[in-house]
Amino acid sequence: MLELDHITQHYDGRPLVQDVSLRVAPGQTVALLGASGSGKSTLLKIVAGLQTPEAGRVLWAGQDLASVPPERRGFALMFQDFALFPHLDVRDNVAFGLIEQRQPKAQARADAEALLQRFGLAAQARQKVWTLSGGEQQRVALARAIITRPRALLLDEPFSALDADLRQQLRDEFSKRIAESGMACLLVTHDEAEARAMAQQAWRLQNGRLVPLW
Ligand SMILES: Nc1ncnc2c1ncn2[C@@H]1O[C@H](COP(=O)(O)OP(=O)(O)OP(=O)(O)O)[C@@H](O)[C@H]1O
Ligand SMILES: [Mg+2]
Repeated sequence: MLELDHITQHYDGRPLVQDVSLRVAPGQTVALLGASGSGKSTLLKIVAGLQTPEAGRVLWAGQDLASVPPERRGFALMFQDFALFPHLDVRDNVAFGLIEQRQPKAQARADAEALLQRFGLAAQARQKVWTLSGGEQQRVALARAIITRPRALLLDEPFSALDADLRQQLRDEFSKRIAESGMACLLVTHDEAEARAMAQQAWRLQNGRLVPLW
């Protein structure tokens, strides 16, 4: 269980996030909506550990993560500008996290190929990522995010760069993968339809507070 416990953050005297508490269970997706500048990305960065909150705690299974650095939290992040490595092929982009964890390269590549197979991208494994379509690149980004079996997935407007058709297709696909992987997922989106399709629970961040949507 991912837990945000009474998180508060100000910028320039302005209360951006005020006493926000939230829980996301494994296998569950919780959506976070809100106007531009309302603090959604800030909250995700706090959960990821990229930023320390002024007050409040982030917990996993009841353990305070304050002293756990981002790379040891077991959370995967996927931002809108998913920043794949252009000099690497698809397989090595996906294998990257495993190689970083010191898995032998051959094993990491075999695991990446197996995941790409499940994502319908086996044929593209040896292509450079920039030869792929936007939707394909997004799938590679998701494969790269989840290959290390994160316990939580933090998605910041993952489909906003895509056209409506592709967005719909990918959100169904992502939902399926999130459910089958058992990850706790926090989804930031502007799009209420996307939230409805993917999340079991949704909140709007408004004046620093969470207002329940459903
Ligand atoms: N490190 C920082 N220092 C000062 N101000 C910051 C910092 N990080 C974010 N802000 C401000 O906090 C506000 C919220 O930013 P944030 O990126 O969390 O919004 P958001 O809800 O994700 O918006 P969008 O929907 O446009 O992505 C913005 O006004 C931003 O300028
Ligand atoms: Mg944002």
